[in-house]
Amino acid sequence: MSQTAVLISRQLPEKARELLSNAGFEVNVWEEERPMPKQELILRCQRVEALLCTSIDEIDAAFISSCSHLKVISTFAVGYDNIDLVAAERARIRIGHTPGVLTEATAEIAFGLMISVARHFMDAHHQIGNGEWKYFVPTKNLGKDLTNRTLGIFGLGAIGFEMARRCQAVYGMKIIYHNRKRNPRAEEELGASLVSFEALLERSDVISVHASLNDQTKGIFDLSAFAKMKESAIFINTARGGLHDEADLLHALKKGQIWGAGLDVTNPEPMNPDNPLLQQPRVLVLPHIGSSTEFTRDEMARIAAENIISFFENGNLVHEVRSS
Ligand code: 8YV
Repeated sequence: MSQTAVLISRQLPEKARELLSNAGFEVNVWEEERPMPKQELILRCQRVEALLCTSIDEIDAAFISSCSHLKVISTFAVGYDNIDLVAAERARIRIGHTPGVLTEATAEIAFGLMISVARHFMDAHHQIGNGEWKYFVPTKNLGKDLTNRTLGIFGLGAIGFEMARRCQAVYGMKIIYHNRKRNPRAEEELGASLVSFEALLERSDVISVHASLNDQTKGIFDLSAFAKMKESAIFINTARGGLHDEADLLHALKKGQIWGAGLDVTNPEPMNPDNPLLQQPRVLVLPHIGSSTEFTRDEMARIAAENIISFFENGNLVHEVRSS
């Protein structure tokens, strides 16, 4: 019997290839460090029935129409805004993703960004290298206190919940959130209250973004949103760079409409090294490393592979994305 062929579009933790090979699949891996060019991805997909991709592969309508023979696409990510779900459903391609296993690691990055920005970690570190640490200056590097402040979560799902839980446990922060629907667990366990978007902007000392990117959330943190935030507020985004407008964020920081920002996601990615946000003193940008721990990436590789294995074994994915 001929083997079912799978393409893995990037070098992933070895577990993905291992599980698929052990399950009897013929595994093709893009061995180069750079991402697969779209045409190459389309070409190589002609020879396989399943694709294990990442969030930077553009699985849009054009891709789907050129690869409509694929039976399953499993993404090495929880987010799937790079995939046209409607086109996939029309082509009867099943879509899998890797929720759950990256919750802790991503919440940790949001929490770390918040403290780093509030206490000037990056800028203070550079001051030493720049020879600016000459003597003790009691009024220099004054940070923002986090204890008993208000945390506003935009998009309170699993990752937002873990960020809120940390902020409450460590700093006794009051939690408010804005979401499409209520989160009863957060209300019960953290005393979180659901508020309007406007109230979230006006009342939060720290806003942490955890929503998915879609037509409703794209660019929602813009000039008018930043203008409503406290001048002392810190803006954190570990979800997707498309949720905030980068030029508007820069403007708000320069005008003192908000105090600081911590980003693990940018728009576009990678961020241009000349981006003026990188020169802002109270801004810390990371290169999208939310899920980047050894255990988490191994688990993402395992689940992404198991989605495919399970589909060919019994028609079900371990974690399936459905277009709603
Ligand atoms: C990934 C992510 O590292 O899972 C997601 O949605 O944003 C990150 O965990 C990235 O997408 C790589 O595929």
